[in-house]
Amino acid sequence: MISRRNVLALGVLSAAAAAAPLERLVLSPTSATANAATSSPPIPLFDRALTVPPVLRPRRLGSVDYYDITMRTTDVELLPGATSNLWTYGGESPGPVIKAVAGRPVIVQQRNQLPEPAAVHLHGGNVPSASDGLPGDEIQPGGSRRYLYPNRQPAATLYYHDHVHHLESPHTYRGLTGLYLLTDRAEQRLCLPTGKYDVPLVLQDRLFNADGSLRMPGPRDIVGDVTLVNGRPTPVLEVEQRPYRFRLLNGSSLDGIQQLSLGDGEQFQVIASDGGLLSAPVAVNGLTLSPSERYEIVIDFSKYPIGTQLELRNSLVATGLSPHVMRFDVTQRATSAFGPVGKRLVPVPRLREAVATVRREFVFQFNQAATQMEINGKAFDPNRIDIKPRLGDTEIWTVRNADQSPPIPHVFHTHLVRFQVLDRDGKPAGPLEAGWKDSILINPGESVRLIMRFGDFTGRYLYHCHLLGHADLGMMAQMEVVRR
Ligand code: C2O
Ligand code: CU
Repeated sequence: MISRRNVLALGVLSAAAAAAPLERLVLSPTSATANAATSSPPIPLFDRALTVPPVLRPRRLGSVDYYDITMRTTDVELLPGATSNLWTYGGESPGPVIKAVAGRPVIVQQRNQLPEPAAVHLHGGNVPSASDGLPGDEIQPGGSRRYLYPNRQPAATLYYHDHVHHLESPHTYRGLTGLYLLTDRAEQRLCLPTGKYDVPLVLQDRLFNADGSLRMPGPRDIVGDVTLVNGRPTPVLEVEQRPYRFRLLNGSSLDGIQQLSLGDGEQFQVIASDGGLLSAPVAVNGLTLSPSERYEIVIDFSKYPIGTQLELRNSLVATGLSPHVMRFDVTQRATSAFGPVGKRLVPVPRLREAVATVRREFVFQFNQAATQMEINGKAFDPNRIDIKPRLGDTEIWTVRNADQSPPIPHVFHTHLVRFQVLDRDGKPAGPLEAGWKDSILINPGESVRLIMRFGDFTGRYLYHCHLLGHADLGMMAQMEVVRR
């Protein structure tokens, strides 16, 4: 049960959810109509340039890169002519980009000047438990904490975000999300587009008041109706006739699952998923990007004449989310040489089922009577250890979404380990899910089987639904990795 104290601590979003759980939680056209009653004001399309979050410069202390970030509130103009008070890392939302190199540790000193406690989690990071942003490890207002990120893992698009107990959704909604880009030798050898041709795209679903300021979600808001890209609605990026690498992150705090496509079904290549590069590029005409998932794609604009405009669209609009994401305008010839993306990227060794020694099952389900979201019949309790994986073990987890009626999607995410997808409802994983992942969409009624190996660290870590409103309502559990 959620205690009374916790209910009070849930904040605007989740307290509202407790009052009208079904409307808020169920992804259905009915709730989309309800959503429309309080929709954001019309926003002019494609009238602003895409911006990219600034890259932070570290202080180099011997073998470590050291960063110092102050979390504080900042007034930002999200929609033209109106300011919104955001919660930021160092005044930026999305937060500034941290660029790290595999094998070279990073220390981030986080100072909390926000009005509430904060906890910073490096999503996708293979990090010691004390640096994972666990409940109980919060930074109080006025306080600070040092996080150590050893970067003992391959190149990947990671991100950091707030993880304060029961407030993940409102805190990230207010702005606490930033990218952490990890590189390594294997990636650098590939000659993928770099510099200004390597562009992060952080997608976030949001709601706005009539005056253009950010609106906190109410009881009927399951999803935002505006997508911000790097903090702006429907921006335009002017591109040269050459390949670009885009790092897509769905940083939505509500249920903003996106089904993305380019122009009239143009083809592009997917080169990486959550946990790093794929073994080979996969050509697609679109992809589904759920909250906290990352895909890196290459779009080759050399095949389009100057003057071409290609819109990045979302077709999952039954939820109330906007179809418009952003636009690419091909405006000039390539200004420097480029090569094609290779046929092979990096080796992705498959974890073998035969090696697994432990099998676990998890059922994700909304408990309507108790107004909580549960894993195996229990809501999160920070004082309870749910499972104890052993260091060195390979485990297979079957995760089932039992919410068929009403239908509610869930996004399974585990801290610490990257996993591979064995199958989805018994069918082999598709090519986009053949690499390393840490987050996966599980549709109503579906089961996925995941395989993972517990490698480097012992201690406590979380696993949960990454539709953060669900996590706030209890759909989270805790493991303690122990020595054999
Ligand atoms: Cu983005 Cu607990 O995670
Ligand atoms: Cu969920």
